[in-house]
Amino acid sequence: MEQRLISSSMKEEDKKAELSLRPHFLREYIGQDDVKEHVQIYIEAAKKRGEPLDHTLLYGPPGLGKTTLAEIIANEMGVSFRITSGPALTHAGDLAAILTNLSPGDVLFIDEIHRLNANVEEILYPAMEDFALDIVIGKGPSARSIRLDLPRFTLVGATTRMGLLTSPLRDRFGIKEQLDLYTEAALNDIIKRSAGILNIRISEDGANEISARSRGTPRIANRLLRRVRDYSEVRADGIINRQVAMDALRMLSIDELGLDSIDRKMLETMITRFGGRPVGLDTLAATTGEDAATIEDVYEPYLLRLGFITRTPRGRIVLPGGYKHMGYNPPQEQIKLEV
Ligand code: ADE
Repeated sequence: MEQRLISSSMKEEDKKAELSLRPHFLREYIGQDDVKEHVQIYIEAAKKRGEPLDHTLLYGPPGLGKTTLAEIIANEMGVSFRITSGPALTHAGDLAAILTNLSPGDVLFIDEIHRLNANVEEILYPAMEDFALDIVIGKGPSARSIRLDLPRFTLVGATTRMGLLTSPLRDRFGIKEQLDLYTEAALNDIIKRSAGILNIRISEDGANEISARSRGTPRIANRLLRRVRDYSEVRADGIINRQVAMDALRMLSIDELGLDSIDRKMLETMITRFGGRPVGLDTLAATTGEDAATIEDVYEPYLLRLGFITRTPRGRIVLPGGYKHMGYNPPQEQIKLEV
């Protein structure tokens, strides 16, 4: 029953490769130093007290390791890890079935927790707060509610959209950690670690070339590593050096900052169709043919981090750096703004 509730959002091949590269313990986890330090302290304290870890909310853009970190929490606590997702839990009964099957201390991970429907979320409140499940028996005037005890468990929720979480749900998490885009140095270490696991030969500058184009995201770094490896095996001698990485990434239409054709289409549209005026998210989605949520979750965070776009109350605008990267002169008012 629970099997069908397991989410499946990535392509099978990518999923398998990802799984083999995932760190299992905090000491193997590269980057996110603040988050790692906090989590380490909370885990050690909970273990000392012999209690489960407090409910934990992880938020940040996709591909940064929220699921990995949740699994690491379970491993570090020495408990089982159960995984499901907001959209997979369509009925209150789905969640009730999972909750009643937990063992004491277990980590229940709910990915995309902002997509839980209201009925399911209602079940979660007493489960999180009182470790209790309220069940209504019967219908109409004779209906009555009974309360079942649940084992004390840890809920780890993950979301790309903190703002879409209802405040009662948000308030029930004792620990909230934001994952940020990774530094190039951290991505470089991740690429070398992954290359070691996959038996890929890569030079330092080959790893640098990939990390610089991975948009601060380990999932992208690992995917590019595998694609560059394919290229190196067919078009070169199987060793990834800087030139091989550059050639492979050019073939993939990934530019020197990691922008792909969709990022460039967004920037180009904002510059040429809207002439630098603010563009609303839905308009941007309609004119580029991309989904608004994907633009917001996947494309924008990196363009914002690069300082290529910014959000204003009237919409998104391209900043001078974005114009220059696309080979355009920024409008006069913005040049003035910059100095
Ligand atoms: N693979 C993917 N993300 C990782 C991380 N943060 N640390 C180590 N290996 C990883």
